Formats: sequence, structure tokens, C-alpha cells
Amino acid sequence: MQKTQTFIIVALTLDGFIGRDRTDLSTRWTSKEDATWFSQRTKEAGICVMGRKTYQTFNRPLPERIVIVQTKDPLTFKKQQLKSGVEVKLIQADSQVDLLAKKSKTQVWATSLELDRLHQLLEDAGVKEVAVCGGSSIYTQWLSAGLVDELYLTLEPVVFGAGVKLFNQAVKVKLEFVGEKKLNDKGTKVMRLRVKY
Ligand SMILES: NC(=O)c1ccc[n+]([C@@H]2O[C@H](COP(=O)([O-])OP(=O)(O)OC[C@H]3O[C@@H](n4cnc5c(N)ncnc54)[C@H](OP(=O)(O)O)[C@@H]3O)[C@@H](O)[C@H]2O)c1
Repeated sequence: MQKTQTFIIVALTLDGFIGRDRTDLSTRWTSKEDATWFSQRTKEAGICVMGRKTYQTFNRPLPERIVIVQTKDPLTFKKQQLKSGVEVKLIQADSQVDLLAKKSKTQVWATSLELDRLHQLLEDAGVKEVAVCGGSSIYTQWLSAGLVDELYLTLEPVVFGAGVKLFNQAVKVKLEFVGEKKLNDKGTKVMRLRVKY
């Protein structure tokens, strides 16, 4: 069976922040070109994993993508979303998740599964690619667990001076530069890096 490729996708300020605070909506300070890049690349992957706090910065499904929200309390998240008319499916330990059949569908799933278990479940489902979409705690855990193959870092010509860091604790990996792409004429670029554990 083919290994699931996992990549982190994130927009960073020049001084290394991913948000002003934990409720900050990224598209308030990132470029429209980055929003387009994020949309294209995550649609290509089809599956986005993110923390409950990041989901709640925009609080809606992402068109043509399956969003898997990590939360310790999936049932409460499901009930909250139902109030906004969003149906959330739960991924549990014994779930048989036919994610491939759902590719390109707009859906929200929630889970409290441990990372390794969730990753295994995605692999067993034959998922080719997963986009890890933040925030700080989720990026740190996936990278520290040895589950990330690549990083796509968009650098925006913005500084905050203070805020939420990309990682919320020390990480120990080596990165290999793969390439970079200019997204606009205002200094925004996306860098692609391979993770060496
Ligand atoms: N610039 C960018 O590209 C970008 C992208 C994404 C996010 N962000 C920013 O990141 C910030 C949010 O990051 P954050 O670290 O505060 O929050 P987060 O990682 O988005 O969400 C944290 C929540 O995820 C759940 N969670 C975390 N680890 C879990 C695990 N192992 N199992 C189950 N649930 C787990 C918990 O939810 P419960 O409390 O419900 O249990 C936890 O409170 C915001 O400022 C946002 O704008 C920036």
C-alpha cells in the first residue's frame, strides 16, 4: 500500500508568527495570492487536518475538501456546528472511513484519535496526501511525531513583533530545501522543504 504523504501548509510573517493571537483569521493578514495557493494545494490533497481553534477562526466547511478537526471533545464540537447548520461526522477508533470515495466533497469530520492512529487510518483508507493546516499545537505534534514529509511555508512581508509562533515547543528535525515560488510582486513567496528525521 502506498504511504500517505503529509505536508504542513502555513503562512508566516517575516518575524516567524502565524497569527496575532489564537483567534486570528489568517486571511486577514495574508495576501490574496496566498489564499489562492492554499485553496489550490489543499484541494489537490483533498484532506485537511486542523485543530479545533484554527477551524473556529473561520468556522465553516472548506469547499471541495474534507476537513478533519482534532478536538478532545468531538461530540461538543459536533453539537456546536449543528447549531450553525453544519453536519459533522465523527471518526472513532473503530471507524471504517471511506475517505477516498468522498474526495472533492465538502465535509467536516471531528476526532479525538491519537495522531498515530489517525494517520494509520488515513493510510488504511488509501489516502495519498494530507494537508496539515495548523495551528501551532497541531503543526508541532505532527512534526514531532515524525509524520510530516514536507513543509510549504508562505513568507508574507509582514511583521507582528508578538503573536502565535509556528511551533509551540522545541522541535528537532532537519529541513532540505526543495524550491521556492514567487506568489506576487509584493514579496510573498512560498518555500518548499523536505523533512529529514
Ligand atoms: N498562518 C497560518 O497559516 C495559520 C494556519 C493555521 C492556524 N493559524 C493560527 O494558529 C492559531 C491557533 O493555533 P493553536 O495552537 O492555538 O490552536 P490549534 O492547534 O488550531 O487548536 C488547538 C486545539 O486542537 C485540539 N487538539 C490539539 N491537539 C489535539 C490532539 N492531540 N488530540 C485531539 N485534539 C487536539 C484541542 O481542541 P479542544 O480544546 O477542542 O480539545 C486544542 O485546544 C491561530 O492564531 C490561527 O490563526 C495560522
